[in-house]
Amino acid sequence: MLFKSLSLAVASLVASSLAAPSEFYLKTTGSNITAHNDLYVEAYHTGAGLSDPVLTTVTANAGHFYLNETYLQMDIGQEFSYGFDLGGATNYAAWEFVEINAGQGVPGFELENNSTIVWNNTEFGGWLACDWWHGAPQLFWIVAYEEGAIPYPSSCSEVDLIPAAISS
Ligand SMILES: *[C@@H]1O[C@H](CO)[C@@H](O)[C@H](O)[C@H]1NC(C)=O
Ligand SMILES: *[C@@H]1O[C@H](CO)[C@@H](O)[C@H](O)[C@H]1NC(C)=O
Ligand SMILES: *[C@@H]1O[C@H](CO)[C@@H](O)[C@H](O)[C@H]1NC(C)=O
Ligand SMILES: *[C@@H]1O[C@H](CO)[C@@H](O)[C@H](O)[C@H]1NC(C)=O
Ligand SMILES: *[C@@H]1O[C@H](CO)[C@@H](O)[C@H](O)[C@H]1NC(C)=O
Repeated sequence: MLFKSLSLAVASLVASSLAAPSEFYLKTTGSNITAHNDLYVEAYHTGAGLSDPVLTTVTANAGHFYLNETYLQMDIGQEFSYGFDLGGATNYAAWEFVEINAGQGVPGFELENNSTIVWNNTEFGGWLACDWWHGAPQLFWIVAYEEGAIPYPSSCSEVDLIPAAISS
């Protein structure tokens, strides 16, 4: 059932390249912290045009995302959209911020192996979910060069992000 709905979501993603973008939720899977699985990315407002991706069980609050070429954008029902913005790996940290901000964000996102959303960049080592300062798990990205160099806090776990069909 999960596989089937995922295949459908993927098929409609692929079919959408010229039509209106097809939208999906971004859902977590693959974590070894059970509570970090089956959560949906929600944009938590942090300032004008700025938000942090937190993870929620509630689809009502979850963002509606789409791939526009390689930009991972969020439909907010306005003429402009928000986009995934990855903070630069500039400080030798082992993981870095993800933000969802007004605009298109950064390019390079794709559906790898028809299954998971990744940033196709040599710096990218995957996604990290940590229980953090908004009172909910928050999404970060792992800096590939530093992966494994610094142990994660126990509230953090690696997660995959998969597109999940939006049922109206
Ligand atoms: C991905 O899915 C599309 C549409 O279902 C299919 O045509 C394509 O062969 C798949 N690619 C891979 C690498 O599985
Ligand atoms: C897709 O991206 C292009 C520019 O890269 C932009 O002009 C267009 O508005 C975007 N489309 C959507 C639906 O966000
Ligand atoms: C995609 O498939 C390749 C080959 O099976 C594998 O090495 C790689 O880890 C997969 N990527 C993801 C993101 O699962
Ligand atoms: C990732 O990006 C590189 C360079 O931009 C490109 O050559 C490669 O085809 C991309 N990988 C996939 C799986 O699309
Ligand atoms: C859970 O995964 C993390 C990496 O994401 C790893 O460091 C840790 O050892 C794993 N814990 C268990 C219990 O498998």
